[in-house]
Amino acid sequence: MSYYGNTAKPYGGFYSDQGMQNGVSHSKPKFAKHFYTEHTAVSHRSREDIASFFELNGISVTGNNIPNPILTFEESTYPAHIVNYFKKQSWKAPTSIQSQGWPVALSGRDLIGIAQTGSGKTLSFVLPAIIHIGAQPPLAYNDGPICLILAPTRELAQQVASVALEFGQLNNVRNVCVYGGAPRGPQIRDLRRGAEICIATPGRLIDFLDQGQINLKRCTHLILDEADRMLDMGFEPQIRKIIQQITPGRQTLMFSATWPKEIRRLASEFLQDPIRINIGSLNIHANHNITQIVDVLTEYEKENKLLTLLEEISKEPENKTIIFVETKKKCDTIGRSMRRYGWPVGIIHGDKSQQERDWVLNEFRSSKTTILIATDVASRGLDVDDIRFVINFDFPKSCEDYVHRIGRTGRANSKGTAYTFFTSNNFKQSRELVEVLTEANQQINPKLIEMTNIRGGGSTSRGFSRGGFSQRGGSRFRGSHHGNTYGSAKSGFQSKSDTHYGGAYNYNQHDNLHSSNTNGNSNSHTTYQNGYRNNALG
Ligand SMILES: Nc1ncnc2c1ncn2[C@@H]1O[C@H](COP(=O)(O)OP(=O)(O)OP(=O)(O)O)[C@@H](O)[C@H]1O
Ligand SMILES: [Mg+2]
Repeated sequence: MSYYGNTAKPYGGFYSDQGMQNGVSHSKPKFAKHFYTEHTAVSHRSREDIASFFELNGISVTGNNIPNPILTFEESTYPAHIVNYFKKQSWKAPTSIQSQGWPVALSGRDLIGIAQTGSGKTLSFVLPAIIHIGAQPPLAYNDGPICLILAPTRELAQQVASVALEFGQLNNVRNVCVYGGAPRGPQIRDLRRGAEICIATPGRLIDFLDQGQINLKRCTHLILDEADRMLDMGFEPQIRKIIQQITPGRQTLMFSATWPKEIRRLASEFLQDPIRINIGSLNIHANHNITQIVDVLTEYEKENKLLTLLEEISKEPENKTIIFVETKKKCDTIGRSMRRYGWPVGIIHGDKSQQERDWVLNEFRSSKTTILIATDVASRGLDVDDIRFVINFDFPKSCEDYVHRIGRTGRANSKGTAYTFFTSNNFKQSRELVEVLTEANQQINPKLIEMTNIRGGGSTSRGFSRGGFSQRGGSRFRGSHHGNTYGSAKSGFQSKSDTHYGGAYNYNQHDNLHSSNTNGNSNSHTTYQNGYRNNALG
């Protein structure tokens, strides 16, 4: 049976009938967006059990009428073939964002999902999108997609498309990936053939909308992955233009590992009565599976340090490494220099042709190259499960970018190490970086702490005073509205006075690195850190 012909609504449901948006009057569309019947075990779970589940996993949720979380794949109520797929992967349970995100998304609610890098956000939105599609009438000739997923970079769009393909195939849901730098012909052909899901970068999508190659009249499910990055890249006008063309009453979901205040305004404009799920600290925070090491040094020392570091990393049995630098030019310069020293490196940045970008990334994924030098084009969302090391040759523009960059390692349940070169030019970020390190129980380089004292080491708006959603009553999602607030709502940071920077760790001693990280990561590479540290700081 073709899934597209399936007008039966397996989950029954609520129909949206909103008619006005952005000042534009629309005829009242009717479409199903609530497909969720709670598993009895989920309905019967006590408040205490839910509270302890939240506490254990650092989950906090705010909003109205929040559905209960699910604890097992069976409780998801997904069709058996999807549940079996999880089992074949030997996955034990839904990740925290999936546990709470799936019931929210399947209930037709707007959602903000903030969870650590590598914590399974992609499936948090792809699977509910597939179920949403299954409950809509089939696409007719010339119909555009039912679900639109926006992503900031071409590589991320392609990666999300590969997940949508994998799970879509199980459900007869087709997808098209629309992104710049690649020939338009095949993308247009796929659109004409009909695709229930369109994954797109904003630029090429706008081109296609302007040319009438695609329309969003059937689109009732909108997802913005890495929404904050899209804003950062200046895509706000494009996003507005795209959203204006989407059915009012649509379901809108936004996901990221970071949620700076700039994006909250857009979210409050485009989401209706959202439920916000936050995993871990309510402030900016990194994945705790990553050991973070910051080296304070001068610009001139960086290249030699990199060479020494690569030498040591190459001795590790698993050593796939991504090196982030600030500019495209520097990417090429460092890349050439590394090659001269005999390191076979791949280089990826925005001035490379898309064909080359795809080739380089594929070589890296398949381990034909094990070192990739990249600009921030590779900092968001990319899921290469065996990256063990991230090196920030240059510190990024913001600590959000830092969190995403280092998050290329430590995917799912794996562990990784991030080395960061930090110079006096970066001092403005030192305070927020110390917060991120402290929150993740990392040992902190005293030289970095010293930097926080240089004229404050960072502006107050992005420094210690940054309260995220938890501390201030004025937040639009917490404390200031009538919705419920569940969960552990960890603030994450100690005040400056009661923070023990460095703890028992002594950056100038050889002996105590092996067991020093309080997050339990042990990494044989720490031997090297000692010598390196002594050189760097001595
Ligand atoms: N329930 C699960 N159990 C184990 N692994 C999972 C589970 N769900 C997803 N994964 C795997 O976890 C990896 C990371 O997932 P994903 O790329 O969605 O992370 P993310 O949260 O979007 O990270 P980022 O913030 O970097 O974009 C993927 O390889 C995915 O297949
Ligand atoms: Mg992602």
